[in-house]
Amino acid sequence: VEGLIVAVDGPGGSGKSTVARELARRLGLRYLDTGAMYRAVTQLALERRIDIEDPQAVAELAERAVLSVGTDPDEPSIAVDGVGVDAEIRTRAVTNAVSAIAAVPAVRARLVAQQRQVIAATRPGGIVVEGRDIGSVVAPDAQIKVFLTASTEVRALRRSRQLGEKGVDDVARTLAELDRRDALDSSRAADPLAVPEGAIVLDSTALSVPEVVDEVLRRCGQSS
Ligand code: C5P
Repeated sequence: VEGLIVAVDGPGGSGKSTVARELARRLGLRYLDTGAMYRAVTQLALERRIDIEDPQAVAELAERAVLSVGTDPDEPSIAVDGVGVDAEIRTRAVTNAVSAIAAVPAVRARLVAQQRQVIAATRPGGIVVEGRDIGSVVAPDAQIKVFLTASTEVRALRRSRQLGEKGVDDVARTLAELDRRDALDSSRAADPLAVPEGAIVLDSTALSVPEVVDEVLRRCGQSS
């Protein structure tokens, strides 16, 4: 496949990352996690004690930060100013602050431009790109667009499990935080989370990862 772009969008906990990585492996493509880029800027802002509600300060930070991303689906990686932050960007503090950072138009402009460069660099191969605005803004020319959803309860359970939580209270808290992040991501003025035109919409509530992957491949005629 020459220059194939697969866009995978959806809310947190919908199974996007797992599905996108598996699609990349199955199709022999590179993989880009755009959420990791917003998380990396957020991590830097928290580390530098920058007020995340100050768009000007956040924009300046994003302007200066140099992000490097690795696009191997088996081992995706992200570094800021040469320092790997793969574990740091997954903390609860970063997760709860990232929507504020991602709502700043200047931050989005900068990261979207970089995402397009990463995509262009994979030609003539191809890449699976996951995020919130891939099929709509970053790569509207993607040949395959997938929008993954799942019930809020199932998404919270998955997130909670990822975080290694066990108690019912933990799941309830994670659900409340997920709800808040969904609301912020869907209501922001700049490139909100939305189903892009022409997307295959899949509800993964009752589907396993292999089932979702098979369904995507089947629908786009790539199954073998
Ligand atoms: O996918 P993940 O949960 O890692 O994304 C973290 C956050 O980054 C999202 O909640 C959203 O605020 C932001 N994001 C975005 N646009 C993207 C990817 C992520 O605004 N393309």
